[in-house]
Amino acid sequence: MTPMQDRIAMYNGNKFKLGLFGSNCSNGRAMTKAPERWLADWDSSEKLVELADQVGIDFMLPIGRWRGYRGETDHQGTTMETITWATGQLARTKRITVFATVHAPLFNPVLAAKEIVTADLIGRGRFALNIVIGWNESEFNMFGVEQKATNELRYEYGQEWIDAILRMWGPEEEFDFIGKHLKLRGLRLKPKPYGGSRPLMMNAGASPLGRAYALRNCDAFFTAIRFPDLKEAAQEVSTVKAAGKALGKDTGVYTVGQVVCRPTRKEARDYWHYWTEETADWGAAEYMLALKDVKREDDPAGYDKMRRALVHGQSGFDIIGTPDDVADELARLHGAGFDGIGFSFLNYLLELPYFAQEVLPRLHKMGLRESDGVPALA
Ligand SMILES: Cc1cc2nc3c(=O)[nH]c(=O)nc-3n(C[C@H](O)[C@H](O)[C@H](O)COP(=O)(O)O)c2cc1C
Repeated sequence: MTPMQDRIAMYNGNKFKLGLFGSNCSNGRAMTKAPERWLADWDSSEKLVELADQVGIDFMLPIGRWRGYRGETDHQGTTMETITWATGQLARTKRITVFATVHAPLFNPVLAAKEIVTADLIGRGRFALNIVIGWNESEFNMFGVEQKATNELRYEYGQEWIDAILRMWGPEEEFDFIGKHLKLRGLRLKPKPYGGSRPLMMNAGASPLGRAYALRNCDAFFTAIRFPDLKEAAQEVSTVKAAGKALGKDTGVYTVGQVVCRPTRKEARDYWHYWTEETADWGAAEYMLALKDVKREDDPAGYDKMRRALVHGQSGFDIIGTPDDVADELARLHGAGFDGIGFSFLNYLLELPYFAQEVLPRLHKMGLRESDGVPALA
């Protein structure tokens, strides 16, 4: 049996884990019409994951998205399904952990259990699972699945879903799983996950129920909150970690962000302005707000603030500046207690080489990374 600690890069010696977030979607997480925006085509995705693997990025984290947000660019309208995407990426790499982001209510648990095992074996234990409970009614409608009426019911379903999957990955030869929501008979599942353990699991939920679900079931919790300051972020991290400890667990806490790194602050700020103002796809932000039933007439100032927040990378931390600034900000996030960050660039493949060349060696010098990433670039 392979212990969890030995199976994947997420347990390597890097004190602050770095992941690329959202590269399976067109535009990634950037609501922009910039012509160099990310298209999420496979040729670029393959090059990106190979480079990320070589320079020492710890993980790839996709977004589970089935319908885009329209606007001029149909933001996130072209997306790859994340378990198959992860499998392709794992087959092309040696070291990096690749997550799939799986909607519990939309994936039949037997299919999910089987596909995940397949991906995990192909990746020799480098597959990881990000469970989402979902919110986007129009995506549920595509599947003909009715979203459950309350958050309690959604997480109750999510609990049965993961319980059934964990049992399928366990030693039983054959069993029935009869819950309130799932009634599965004569379950058999072979092979089992890599090395007799199971994939690392994370949950992305914002509510107290989402957090409780993550603490109960997962190794890590993923929060997208835009904290007003790092003190508040540190408070949130320590609350989650303390709740994990009370359950006898060492729960990881990850955050999200967007990075612009340039030789000078002015260049970085100018590019951020270009991304979030000059070329912003406001229509996509407005469509997303309409999906969440947020209307300008109810609160014009609040609406404009939310619209701008969406265009500014959607959520998490904006990390904009020189290589020193970016490394310092990542170190501060580590100091606030976060275990890592999933971040995006406007165009991942254009921007990763400079980040790897300049920021990784600085983090290495600060003692936050085992490798400086640079030999791989040479
Ligand atoms: C960091 C983060 C990432 C998320 N990623 C996705 C995603 O890829 N697809 C999706 O449909 N929902 C995503 N969600 C939304 C969750 O599925 C969930 O619907 C939302 O957090 C509401 O759950 P809650 O009731 O626990 O707050 C994400 C949420 C967070 C916090």
